[in-house]
Amino acid sequence: MRLSPVLAELAQYPFARLDDWKAGAAARGVELIDFGMGDPREPTPAFIREALVASVDEVSSYPRAVGLPGLRDAIAGWIERRFGAAVDPATEIVPTLGSKEAIFSFAQVALGEKRAVAIPEPAYPVYERGARFAGASVVTVPLSERSGWLPDLDAFAAWDEIALFWTCYPNNPTGAVAPLSFYEELATRAREHGFLLCSDEAYSELWFDEPPVSALELTDRTNVVVFNTLSKRSSMTGYRSGFVCAPREICDALRAFRPTVGTAPQEFVQRASIAAWSDERHVENVRDVYRRKRDVILPALEAKGLRLAGSEATFYLWLDVNGPSIPFARALLEHGVVCAPGAFFGPAGEGYARFALVPTQEQCERAAGIIGDVL
Ligand SMILES: Cc1ncc(COP(=O)(O)O)c(C=O)c1O
Repeated sequence: MRLSPVLAELAQYPFARLDDWKAGAAARGVELIDFGMGDPREPTPAFIREALVASVDEVSSYPRAVGLPGLRDAIAGWIERRFGAAVDPATEIVPTLGSKEAIFSFAQVALGEKRAVAIPEPAYPVYERGARFAGASVVTVPLSERSGWLPDLDAFAAWDEIALFWTCYPNNPTGAVAPLSFYEELATRAREHGFLLCSDEAYSELWFDEPPVSALELTDRTNVVVFNTLSKRSSMTGYRSGFVCAPREICDALRAFRPTVGTAPQEFVQRASIAAWSDERHVENVRDVYRRKRDVILPALEAKGLRLAGSEATFYLWLDVNGPSIPFARALLEHGVVCAPGAFFGPAGEGYARFALVPTQEQCERAAGIIGDVL
């Protein structure tokens, strides 16, 4: 039987590999503390859960792709308060089922004559997978510690070939942030060369010192598409709720495409999401939680000569591990501490490892002790 050749070409999803390693270690009796996947295990705040429960109607209808007006208003209100940007909730916002599906399918909607997509490396793997399933070719934009994990725009040559240029700040996996001047320069090139700047801002609310800027703060957003989500901000990965904010023409295309795919969030999730976007106190609490975990685990790693190599924001610690990342991660795993080797995010991630600050505070303290003993 011949299935999708794209599937056959893709390497195993890196985190499926990590799952295999973990299963092997667990079978050997190793008790694991998991800093591998970025899946927050903080409780979803009670008021959000209550809003969901109160919204489960007796009759269940198909949710519409445009989303509830109240949700679009709540998102536009949040964008205004957080980034000082005025967006039209009727035409410039599309609610999404988390941001992953929207990121994945965006190339299918947005690619016209130009069939190339620029993606950073190291990166979240979905930009590339989405491009490939849409039949696009991929142009890799290397990120390096030397340039603060920002792409070197002067070194990039394929401006006239690309339809999309993906960015992700605060960055997964490096935790780096981008200044507004970076978005300004890229947006100018997007207008000059006719491509879309696609800004994945899934981690915009998880920061340690300064709130990161957004591409939504640009004065000219003509070619700018922003993806955000409640997953990390409000510890709601299981709810699947995010949004795309883009110029009207792009949102019209999404509204035409998405009913076929059936990717509108359930209405009870949308109503819970209204509560989540309308409150900041729980987000401040969540930032404190990650700060406390960082304060426990980072000194333990640094005491062993590992160097922080980014991590101004997100809940990731990105560390130089002084050698190949896969043997480092596998050795640590045998002692019960799971991290993601940088090589999982592409060759430019080699030599680094990513620790997601998702285990409990008590587990972080235990892991700090293990690291102190075994590294
Ligand atoms: C960089 C980045 N973008 C987007 C997402 C998607 O998040 P969700 O689909 O939960 O909104 C993730 C999830 O881990 C991520 O790391």
